[in-house]
Amino acid sequence: MTVNVVLRGIRVIDPLAGRDQVDMDVWLRSGRIEAIERRIRTDQAPTLDLARAPGLPEVVLCPGFIDLHTHLREPGGEAAETVQSGAEAAAVGGFTQVVAMANTRPAIDTPERLADSRRRARLAPVRVLSAAALTLGLRGRDMVDTAACAAAGAAAFTDDGRNAAPTRLLAEALRAAAEVDRVVLVHPEDEAMVTAANPDVPSVMRCPHRPPDCEVVAVEQALRALTQAGRGRLHLQHLSCAGSLELLRTARELDFPVTAEVTPHHLSMWLPFEREPDPPSLRKVNPPLRTEQDRRALVEGLREGLIDAVATDHAPHPAEDKVGDYADTAPGMIGLETALATCLTLGGMGGEWLPTLVERLTAGPWRVLGAAAGLREPRLRLGQPCSFVLFDPEEEWEVGAEPLRSRSGNTPLLGVRLRGRVLLTVHEGTIAHLSPALELPGLTAIPSA
Ligand code: DOR
Repeated sequence: MTVNVVLRGIRVIDPLAGRDQVDMDVWLRSGRIEAIERRIRTDQAPTLDLARAPGLPEVVLCPGFIDLHTHLREPGGEAAETVQSGAEAAAVGGFTQVVAMANTRPAIDTPERLADSRRRARLAPVRVLSAAALTLGLRGRDMVDTAACAAAGAAAFTDDGRNAAPTRLLAEALRAAAEVDRVVLVHPEDEAMVTAANPDVPSVMRCPHRPPDCEVVAVEQALRALTQAGRGRLHLQHLSCAGSLELLRTARELDFPVTAEVTPHHLSMWLPFEREPDPPSLRKVNPPLRTEQDRRALVEGLREGLIDAVATDHAPHPAEDKVGDYADTAPGMIGLETALATCLTLGGMGGEWLPTLVERLTAGPWRVLGAAAGLREPRLRLGQPCSFVLFDPEEEWEVGAEPLRSRSGNTPLLGVRLRGRVLLTVHEGTIAHLSPALELPGLTAIPSA
């Protein structure tokens, strides 16, 4: 499919360029942005008037979103998600670059497995980067060969899903990752404390009781490891409680090289739920949803920039892993397709905070990983293939009314009406997603050869 159209009356946001302009015209041709101007008059392309009545939020064009935290389940969990299905879900959500976590079966913990991951990513409709595990099998005992994994294409190192590495080993890993200019992504939950809080549950990952202190103590330990390492960059994944933010604030004031992310679900949901989802385990996630007070602290942290990025922690699970005894069910929810709308509608990032949200979905995550990781700079570039997303912050839709692209449907948002819809996602010049709601004149299907 190719496209040739002038979009009239839209808002253009490009955080790295310091650009935020309303009522602009954008000429899209063959997956490229030909021009962005106040008024484009050309007889070479039809015009699609997207202008809104004064006072109403405009349709937005911005660089493609980056997700630092996606579970694609390949290899070993293909019933829940594949690289292809996950990348399609990403495109529906406006993401053109995602970082796949290493807790697959087997874990991505050798250069060979990394190379296999890179091969699987090649045909995906968006850019899929691979994180390598930090320790073999995520067991927290032996470090992976960081130099060889980086050479094989590891974008970052993480045992996400687990946090079994002791402080000493984490310090060593931070140093080793620094040698190859990579970030260490840490899932901050103290496993000994989690196990102690759930004496009857054999799997630390499935333990349902995970008090906030489990996170706060793990954040403290990770910061201690960073101090011991004396170098390296630490990124704290899916922060969920106010106590962690206080530690992060102090570390930032002391100029620690530490960054952090928050998920759309921790920004938008808290316990107890007014109406439990069915089954209740649809809201089971690690770390758990916490109080309204924690949620507000996270929203404030994201708005002020203490938290650098929104990351989905898209965690697909087959339906059978979400039924039965709550303590036995798998933790996690899908999030790629709902991330933008969740943040806009329920996560405190709509209205005047929309440009900040765009920053935290583009430039923010790009800065976290750094140039060496292999991410493309999220910028709107004229006249060359680039990655961008067009979204309508006002369009309402019901989650699940149209089939989700993910192979799994584990989200407590099923049936919920959200505002904010991705209309078009272009990945490096190629249309990766086009919403049926957007009728583009000048759109032609190229007959396959
Ligand atoms: O709830 C979660 N599920 N949290 C994680 O950190 C891992 C994830 C998964 O892999 O299912």
